[in-house]
Amino acid sequence: MFRAKITGAAFHAPEKVVTNHDLEKILDTSDEWIRTRTGIRERHIAAKGEAASDLGAAAARKLLCQRGMEAAEIDCIIVATVTPDMFFPSTACLLQDKIGAVNAWGFDLSAACAGFVFATATAAQFVHSGAYRRVLVVGADVMSSILDPTDRNTYVLFGDAAGAILVEPCEDGEEGILDFILRCDGSGGKYLFMPGGGSLNPATRETVERKMHYVHQDGRAVFKNAVAGMAQLSAEILERNGLPASMLALYVPHQANMRIIDAAVERMGIDPARVARNIERFANTTAATIPIGLAEAREEGRLRRGDYVLMATFGAGFTAGSLLFRWVM
Ligand code: ACO
Repeated sequence: MFRAKITGAAFHAPEKVVTNHDLEKILDTSDEWIRTRTGIRERHIAAKGEAASDLGAAAARKLLCQRGMEAAEIDCIIVATVTPDMFFPSTACLLQDKIGAVNAWGFDLSAACAGFVFATATAAQFVHSGAYRRVLVVGADVMSSILDPTDRNTYVLFGDAAGAILVEPCEDGEEGILDFILRCDGSGGKYLFMPGGGSLNPATRETVERKMHYVHQDGRAVFKNAVAGMAQLSAEILERNGLPASMLALYVPHQANMRIIDAAVERMGIDPARVARNIERFANTTAATIPIGLAEAREEGRLRRGDYVLMATFGAGFTAGSLLFRWVM
């Protein structure tokens, strides 16, 4: 158990909504195909010039307002993203400036769809150790900036958004973050990656012509591994905490594909009514899917103090994680 708890959750999505029907006009695809294969109906897409730090800052401002806190009270900012505004400065630095968190330091964390869970676990350590009292965790991705708009295999799957939570110390006798499991399997890197723009393939005319600055994936391999990975890490964390799945008030899985969520939920025997789902309206927003789930659960008053909540995720890397906590909001 960690002396750290999640004390707020908020999210922000760009204004522009792109439906499956809109995509039918620019790609050889159909609303029916996208809905039945993925569960997605629409997604939000950032405007030109709207970057990960803008979405993250908007989510962070809503969170501070919700918590009745000033930005200057934040000690540390961790931004999980695979679409930083730029390589450097970090998106955490840009966001720190935008929200006026003058007393915070921060850094970016790159773990794709597992980024938010990795970042929350990292924040929990800082708070548990007593090093910091208020850690802002942001999951922000502008996936549209790294997708090939002519590739129906990837373009239909993602959306843009950011979510934010605060991690603070528990009061005496209070339970917050109970446990987490974090994993990497780099041998899965070849199934989902963006080869261009880094030190291996710096940007040249050729890398751009070969579309190396876009997401490349083997959808079936990712699908298979994601179902097994999410279900396994979810089962493992429940088992080692002696908690049956029936005790969970809410399961917040990463939202890559409704069929991945349904398969993991079925394997674990979780009541489908206790599962957070936002993929239909936002698509896969990478580091933002889980904080959106938490923020919506809070807004809808779905949870009571003390309820058990489990987040689980799987993504490029491969990376995977699960994190069990008690709701204190
Ligand atoms: N519209 C119409 N047809 C399409 C589209 C589209 N948008 N995209 C692919 N197809 C076609 C394919 O070309 C293929 O045609 P073919 O049989 O003539 O070659 C056909 O549909 C079926 O393709 P499959 O790969 O069998 O489709 P599948 O049922 O596996 O669904 C999907 C594909 C949705 C990509 C699925 O594999 C998936 O969700 N994988 C996970 C990938 C993912 O979510 N990655 C995101 C990041 S990782 C993460 O977040 C966990």
